[in-house]
Amino acid sequence: MIGRLNHIAIAVPDLAKASELYGTVMGAKVSAPKPLPAHGVTVVFVELPNTKIELLHPLGEKSPIAGFLARNADGGIHHVCYEVDDIYAARDKLKAGGARVLGNGEPKNGAHDKPVLFLHPKDFAGTLIELEQV
Ligand code: CO
Repeated sequence: MIGRLNHIAIAVPDLAKASELYGTVMGAKVSAPKPLPAHGVTVVFVELPNTKIELLHPLGEKSPIAGFLARNADGGIHHVCYEVDDIYAARDKLKAGGARVLGNGEPKNGAHDKPVLFLHPKDFAGTLIELEQV
């Protein structure tokens, strides 16, 4: 069921500084910041040869990553995203196995305009998991 690693998302307190770090210091290709108001974040996409890193910064008052940054002032790994072929089949299989799906359990379009779901970190070794249908 689980497919390729799509991206690792890192919450950062200073988006310009983190972009500079990945773009100039580490020499990766980085995008311009992209505001995603529906998700409460601004994202910078970092392209690596085998995957992507997404730098997340809070956007708006109710950003889902605000609490994370309050607990991790320097930033940190926020979630890992795996690809699946069929997000509904994956969701139903995981729920049957006892995993908790966050929100109302219905996929919504993520940063790449593809359906995504998030799984409870307590069910996955302390790691927030995003599933993306590709
Ligand atoms: Co993500």
